[in-house]
Formats: sequence, structure tokens, C-alpha cells
Amino acid sequence: MIVNEYNKLAPYYDFLARMVFGKRLLRAKLHFLHLLPEHAKICIIGGGTGHVLQQLLKNNPHTQIIYLEKSSKMIALARQKLNQNMLTQVRFVEGDVSNLAEEEKYDVIITNFFLDQFSERRLTILMKSLNSRLQAGGLWLFTDFVLTKRSKNYWWQFPLVKFMFAFFKLTVNIESNKLLEFNLFFQALGLEINNEQYFLKKLLVTRIYKRKSSK
Ligand SMILES: C[S@@+](CC[C@H](N)C(=O)[O-])C[C@H]1O[C@@H](n2cnc3c(N)ncnc32)[C@H](O)[C@@H]1O
Repeated sequence: MIVNEYNKLAPYYDFLARMVFGKRLLRAKLHFLHLLPEHAKICIIGGGTGHVLQQLLKNNPHTQIIYLEKSSKMIALARQKLNQNMLTQVRFVEGDVSNLAEEEKYDVIITNFFLDQFSERRLTILMKSLNSRLQAGGLWLFTDFVLTKRSKNYWWQFPLVKFMFAFFKLTVNIESNKLLEFNLFFQALGLEINNEQYFLKKLLVTRIYKRKSSK
């Protein structure tokens, strides 16, 4: 059975997210957008229904965006949010990382609630491949859930995360079954945290990581 298959869920995705989290997920995803460079070539991976894409293009008429999304339904929803001018700035790519143009490099990579879908082994390979496509000095905007065992909110955050994985197993056959410590994967690639903001009693985090400039 295909994993991480969002076509059936796509029409309900935003409604469900808003029902559980209100505007908090969106707030986290938009928090650092204004820090991204104006003329950047940006690759958004697994961007879903396209709120971040729309916002990026609203703020920035100079950016060039590659929108990589495995779900054709998600791409259709993202397209609908854009006007004709915005559409000229975006190249939609249906598929996964192997469908990106070979040797293409980006100034910015965006992964929002994307990395949590993969098993440890696949995530290691995937992040290495993405990192190799990031320019020296490039930025990686990451937003996702985070669990801290020592947190006093762990008692409600842990079952909520468990519930989400069970829900996504049922609906999209999510490949992963637990939340990984994403920061360790970034560290292993030598990326450094430039900016960090937590939301919802630290259940959500958004970070800008930076790839070291080559000397
Ligand atoms: C949990 S949703 C997050 C959507 C969006 N980033 C957001 O924050 O609302 C994960 C998205 O990743 C896409 N996806 C899953 N596996 C993918 C892959 N290997 N390559 C590209 N997109 C993928 C899914 O189709 C889905 O739209």
C-alpha cells in the first residue's frame, strides 16, 4: 500500500487542522517568512494546500518558487489560491525529491509538517539529499511538532501526538509511527539554528537553520 498518500484527505485537510489547532499551525508556519531573502530561489516541499506559498508570493514579487508536492489534489488546491501574476513565479512539481531537476540548488528550503512523515532511515536519506540541494549559506525553514519528556505538558501532548499518528495511519497510511528528534538530524548535517520560536506550550516549533557558507 502506498504511504503518505494525501489525495483523499486533501479537501478536508485545512478544516481538520483548524478544528484541532485553530490558527496556531498557520501562525507557526508564517512566523519567520519575513526573514527569507527577497530574491531567493525557494523550494517548498510537501507544501499541502498552499497557504504558505500564497503568503510568500503576496509579500514578495521577486521570489522564484519550486513547489514539490506528491499529491495532485494538494497541488490543485494550492494553485487555486494564486492569481495569474503569482502563478508565473511558481513551478509545480508533482512527485518526490527524485523529481526535482538534477543539480538544481536552492537558497531556501521549506518543510512544514513534512519531516514527521518518515521513518528514521528514510528521513536520514531524505534530509541528506535535500541538504545537498541547499546553497552554501542557504536557509532551511522548518516547522513541526516537538515532544519534550521533561515538559509539564507532556501528559496531554504525548496522547495528542499519538492520536495524530493513529489518525494519519488510518487516512494517509503515514510511514512513520512516532515523532523523531528532528534537531539531531539537522545537527548531523552540520546545519545551525539561526532563529527559533515555540508555540502551543512548546508543542510546535519553527526554526530557520543555516547551512554553513563555504570558505
Ligand atoms: C502533513 S501534510 C503538510 C502540508 C503542509 N506543509 C502544511 O503544513 O499544512 C504533508 C504533505 O506532504 C506531502 N508529501 C508526502 N510525502 C511526500 C514526498 N515524498 N514528497 C513531496 N511531498 C510529499 C503530502 O502530500 C502532504 O501534502
